[in-house]
Amino acid sequence: MSSFLETVLRSAWLSQLEQQFPTPAFLYQREQLEYDAKRIREALSAASSLYFASFCNSNPWLLRILKNQGFGMLASSPSEYRLAKAIGFPSWRIAVTGAGFSKDDLKELTGDRVELNLDSLDQLADALEVNARATLGIRLNPQFCESTDGKGLPLNSCLAKSSRTGIIPEELPEAVRISKSRGQKLSSVHIYTGTNQLKADLFHFTVQHLFDLVAPYEDIESINIGGGFGFPYLEGEHPFPFRDLNECLRQNIARFEHQHGRTIKVVAEPGRSVIAACGALVTKILHCKIRPNGDTFITTDTNLSNFPRPYIYGDEGKHKVSIVSASSRPTPHPGGAKVVVCGNALPSGDILGVIENFAFVPRAGDYVVIHDTGAYGYAMSSRFSGRLRPAELLLSNENVQLIRKAEDDNLLLEGTGFGWRNSESPFTLDLERRVS
Ligand SMILES: Cc1ncc(COP(=O)(O)O)c(C=O)c1O
Repeated sequence: MSSFLETVLRSAWLSQLEQQFPTPAFLYQREQLEYDAKRIREALSAASSLYFASFCNSNPWLLRILKNQGFGMLASSPSEYRLAKAIGFPSWRIAVTGAGFSKDDLKELTGDRVELNLDSLDQLADALEVNARATLGIRLNPQFCESTDGKGLPLNSCLAKSSRTGIIPEELPEAVRISKSRGQKLSSVHIYTGTNQLKADLFHFTVQHLFDLVAPYEDIESINIGGGFGFPYLEGEHPFPFRDLNECLRQNIARFEHQHGRTIKVVAEPGRSVIAACGALVTKILHCKIRPNGDTFITTDTNLSNFPRPYIYGDEGKHKVSIVSASSRPTPHPGGAKVVVCGNALPSGDILGVIENFAFVPRAGDYVVIHDTGAYGYAMSSRFSGRLRPAELLLSNENVQLIRKAEDDNLLLEGTGFGWRNSESPFTLDLERRVS
């Protein structure tokens, strides 16, 4: 267990935290984030830049820590690009990879020297139309995987023939031609191998093919291998072998230089592998239900709106969960309880995790900590069913700092022209006001 979780999983510590910041709250630890950022940067030394995938966590305080650790930032939308600029990432440390940019978006994005990876030939032509001086990259789906899982779904949707991502290899010559016809270079090719990969095998395969694919095109100076480096959410899983991938990159770069007499740069866009471990969702038990067979359902004060991964991804979205008794003398459970950790949103599927053989009887007021929620946690939250977003907190040394306030009811009406009428009858809408 990380020293972050060792600190957090103590009832005295959690009760002190709760006195200052009510549950639920997303808690992050600076030291864990710095440790993982440094570990990954050192292990992936063959990559000349690492752009942190900010859509998995876009809290500016955390992005600033990563900037100070030498990371660039990956934006997937114009708003994330503006966030990168606001935080102070210089343009040469920003990559923008995405789909469906309008001409206005492209005008803004090509006006700066960011690494811009486009998704189609049309988009490439649009970008060169709005800015004839743009140096661009293209997303490529090498279509390696044809196999399906028996239900017709591709085994690896990102590399499958049916994937929507990027252009196909046959279109690469045309992408180079479009760029050349405008007097420009197609300078990079981007690939996304797949999500939450715990092994490097598939990367070995895609990296080698990508190097071979780009070899005939002298303008292509860099390869972006995207993200998808997995995180060991469950017992028995292991961290992504970055050193193994690094060795593969190193060998391919050397082979490429030897065979083609020029060098090629590799960059990557890691997300969850960098930031998952530094986060935990701290919540509390509101009620417990014990069924005749002993199954215990506990309702917490968080939910699928705050943390949708388990609801959306099912088995692929499981996280470790710990219950920390608020009592110094919890009642032992003979034989261990099966505890189903539920959210407080209405859908019956609002289940955040299951603990088999919990040694004690859980009680209202006990703390529940969902582990490793630094990535795709707050970033995927919503206000579904009026369950507003919780606060975000940053633990550093012994101090806890509020880095984003919890949402309040005003957000339910924001931008609608309605307002809460007054404090005496806060549930009456002010029908006089209109959106302007
Ligand atoms: C293009 C691209 N880059 C980077 C990432 C980050 O992936 P991860 O958080 O799995 O490392 C993603 C995730 O979907 C992606 O689509």
